[in-house]
Amino acid sequence: MSHDQNDAGADDAGDDRGQNGGETGNPHDDVFSFPLSSIEIMARNHAILCTVGFLILLPLGVLLARYARTFTRRWFWGHAVMQLVISGPVIFAGWAMGNRTANKLELEMLHDPHQQIGIALLALYVTQLLLGTFIHYVKMPTLFRGHRPPQNYLHVALGLAIIALAGYQVHYGLYTEWDFATEGLHHVPKSAMHAWLALIIVFWVLYFLGMALIPRQFSAEKEGRQQMHRTGKEDPDSHVDG
Ligand code: HEM
Ligand code: HEM
Repeated sequence: MSHDQNDAGADDAGDDRGQNGGETGNPHDDVFSFPLSSIEIMARNHAILCTVGFLILLPLGVLLARYARTFTRRWFWGHAVMQLVISGPVIFAGWAMGNRTANKLELEMLHDPHQQIGIALLALYVTQLLLGTFIHYVKMPTLFRGHRPPQNYLHVALGLAIIALAGYQVHYGLYTEWDFATEGLHHVPKSAMHAWLALIIVFWVLYFLGMALIPRQFSAEKEGRQQMHRTGKEDPDSHVDG
């Protein structure tokens, strides 16, 4: 099966049924009008798990760090538990379900953008877990004179990049991969597209609003540095750098 074939199929489907189904009133377009096949159920469960993992749980862990770190030292464990213990099983179960779907469909490995980006996201997620753990356990106060080391900035940038790429991946899954892989038997309901948009808007608006706390965070970090220079020891109450 190739995307070209799919494109042609999608066009035909578009002629007959309108894009994304359900819009023309044809009962066969509605996702609830007749039962999903076992492959569709597997693909749907994959989609739900991956979306919950990457676009709900990971963003919650990021927002927790963004908002809580200025106020409490305990933000770090909340962040780590959310990103590893809670998100990890959901993300890996979602990926396993995607892999089983691809195997059932007898697709070649890494043959299309959804599979390639999916594997890249998984690799970035694991890298991010390792980087976060490294940052927490390997502090270099003397080398960077109490300033935040480059790996911390890398972790922030990579974290935001993962969430942005996951936004694209879910969009691709909903608008392209589903019809390609399931041959448009049932179309993705409009409510799923709206949920995607809502998740993207809510996360990015909340994250940018949370950036208003950065000056306060930086002044707490500065105080920690001054304390370190005075006493020659790391400030035990420094709660902002994890
Ligand atoms: C074992 C798992 C993890 C640990 C131990 C960990 C640790 C940390 C640490 C130490 C910081 C503070 C860095 C700084 O100085 O700014 C941080 C912040 C951050 N982490 Fe993680 N992290 C983990 C997983 C993740 C994952 C999977 C993501 C991806 C979405 C992520 C995204 C972020 C972001 C975006 C921030 C910056 C928040 C902000 O202040 O704006 N982390 N994390
Ligand atoms: C961040 C979210 C997502 C990630 C990380 C992801 C990742 C993946 C990966 C890695 C595969 C291939 C597995 C393999 O070949 O071993 C896959 C397959 C699949 N995904 Fe997703 N996916 C996501 C969201 C979605 C969504 C929202 C949909 C549809 C609504 C979807 C539909 C499918 C389908 C139908 C397959 C099987 C066909 C194929 O392998 O190309 N995915 N996904």
